[in-house]
Amino acid sequence: MKQLNAAPTKNVQLLAWVKNWAAICEPEALYWCDGSKEEYDRLCNEMVDSGLAIRLNPVKRPNSILFRSDPSDVARVEARTFIASEKEEDAGPTNHWIDPHELKKTMLGLYQGCMHGRTMYVIPFSMGPVGSPIAKIGVEITDSPYVVVNMHIMTRVGTRVLDVLGEKGEFVPCMHSVGKPLENGESDNGVWPCAPMDKKYISQFPETREIWSFGSGYGGNALLGKKCLALRIATAQARDEGWMAEHMLILKLTRESDGKIKYVTGAFPSACGKTNLAMLIPTIPGWKVDTVGDDIAWMKFNKDGELRAINPEAGFFGVAPGTNFSSNKNAMLSCAKDTIFTNVALTDDGDVWWEGMDGDKPAHLIDWKGHDWTPDMKDADGKPVKAAHPNARFTARACNCPVIASNWEDPEGVPVSAFLFGGRRPSTLPLVYQSMSWEHGVFIGSTVGSEVTAAALDVKAGTVRRDPFAMLPFCGYNMGDYFQHWLDIGKHEGARLPKIFCVNWFRKTADGKWLWPGYGDNSRVLKWVFERCDGEGKAQETAVGFLPTEDAIVRDGTDVTAEDMKELLTIDKDAWKKELETINEHFAKFDRLPAELEAQRKALEARLNA
Ligand code: GTP
Ligand code: SPV
Ligand code: MN
Repeated sequence: MKQLNAAPTKNVQLLAWVKNWAAICEPEALYWCDGSKEEYDRLCNEMVDSGLAIRLNPVKRPNSILFRSDPSDVARVEARTFIASEKEEDAGPTNHWIDPHELKKTMLGLYQGCMHGRTMYVIPFSMGPVGSPIAKIGVEITDSPYVVVNMHIMTRVGTRVLDVLGEKGEFVPCMHSVGKPLENGESDNGVWPCAPMDKKYISQFPETREIWSFGSGYGGNALLGKKCLALRIATAQARDEGWMAEHMLILKLTRESDGKIKYVTGAFPSACGKTNLAMLIPTIPGWKVDTVGDDIAWMKFNKDGELRAINPEAGFFGVAPGTNFSSNKNAMLSCAKDTIFTNVALTDDGDVWWEGMDGDKPAHLIDWKGHDWTPDMKDADGKPVKAAHPNARFTARACNCPVIASNWEDPEGVPVSAFLFGGRRPSTLPLVYQSMSWEHGVFIGSTVGSEVTAAALDVKAGTVRRDPFAMLPFCGYNMGDYFQHWLDIGKHEGARLPKIFCVNWFRKTADGKWLWPGYGDNSRVLKWVFERCDGEGKAQETAVGFLPTEDAIVRDGTDVTAEDMKELLTIDKDAWKKELETINEHFAKFDRLPAELEAQRKALEARLNA
């Protein structure tokens, strides 16, 4: 094995860990990443030269490249994601479990020699501002230069992290391989390397705080700081240490008339609007939104009982399709340069395109599979062929977002005033309502549901599934215990607890049209949330919680009629009784459901029957 550079650390544990994996994986070379721009550029150029990436037109899309992954490797694979706790009941009914010793044995077999012909990269990274009391250090080993350059954008990589780690500091070890050794001088020939589905494993060992990932090079399966560390491992740490790791955006909401600021976080399932809300441009005058984070929040109480949130990430791994200058201008500007695109289409002039982009469909493209594409093409079912994969993504730097909050890297975090829960619910759930108490809010979070999207491979798009706290695929331990942890947070001594709201931008009319314009107009709902946090904002008490009065949400400047607003704020008791039945079925799946949540369910039932 060639050592491409000297180890930039004296951390004994880290050195031993790297040495051990190098002996197992047998890479051709070993390289310690320093996080520099030079390193980023060099790896990008190498991937362009080898045909794995395409450099985009430097005038239209400066410093940006495009990757096309294997069609089997386009999203998280939930069926191949495991929480390997010692006891099965500690993984709980919502996670896939394999005995950790058995799983390690199987995976060690797969890792044996898996890096033949490849370089093993060691990536020291910080989740959160380097040195922040809420931040954590991880080190990822990978044989994928695609992972290295994505980690450069999504996390803080490099030698400065090793300086904080020091000789004895602790890190979360994150082991990754694409699972495609190159034998006898073989090369990828520009083809995305990965292993077949039955050899893919995305494994978390919550007790030993380890991550082992094999066989996928894509997104949350491979960029191990994101879902694996910042959610699955961090939830287990947060439970033990009394803080919160959540699948939440963080936004800063300013009322310009008096300069008053509130921070709002929101948990919506994958591809349900976190990035969009985090970068929203208000359509009502006098309000401003700045972005702190678009996917993950880590929150800790400070000594004054304020819940302080940091965004552990440094970039956005955003959904491309549907993003355009009217839906999310700030996301379009964030990915205008210095961006890695995955599985979008390529235009004839070397730029990118996806479904839902501004303007007319181009007359010709190269689609995400690398084939010629024209707008008239139809698939076997007669539907238009998509040029970009529905889960195509951009990896963009937070610092390139025009509305990134000036204090987004404050190591102390920002004080949170409100939590939003939401999902894609075509019926039943109103546009917005507020919980009656913390416990009722936890009940609302535990029953989040959404029509399934393309962000995961193995769930059927279009059907409603329960996704408690938008954490179904991301909770690193028994979900019943996680509900209890939320209830316990509410009992934190001296806590100034955020107010809890449920939002639904996705109500549809009988003929399938959106009842609410969404996007920038969601600022109208944020305004009400802001006011409610101060005990203002007009509300009516209903069986399900506090709803805005019909005039509490400004409609001026929208096509929303008084009748639409009425419908958006209707509580249809029959529909809610059906909702209760499905909540019943959902709760029945839990072995450790806190009694408080069952009491909340009963109380809702009683209010609906009153
Ligand atoms: P992950 O990165 O997978 O966690 O997704 P996300 O929650 O950040 O979702 P994102 O903001 O990328 O939105 C996903 C899709 O939802 C995009 O196609 C958006 O256009 C669409 N969307 C977002 N907000 C709204 C809204 O207010 N109304 C409607 N109708 N669609 C929306
Ligand atoms: C999600 O699926 O919620 C994402 C994308 O944010 S991934 O990082 O691939 O998990
Ligand atoms: Mn997400």
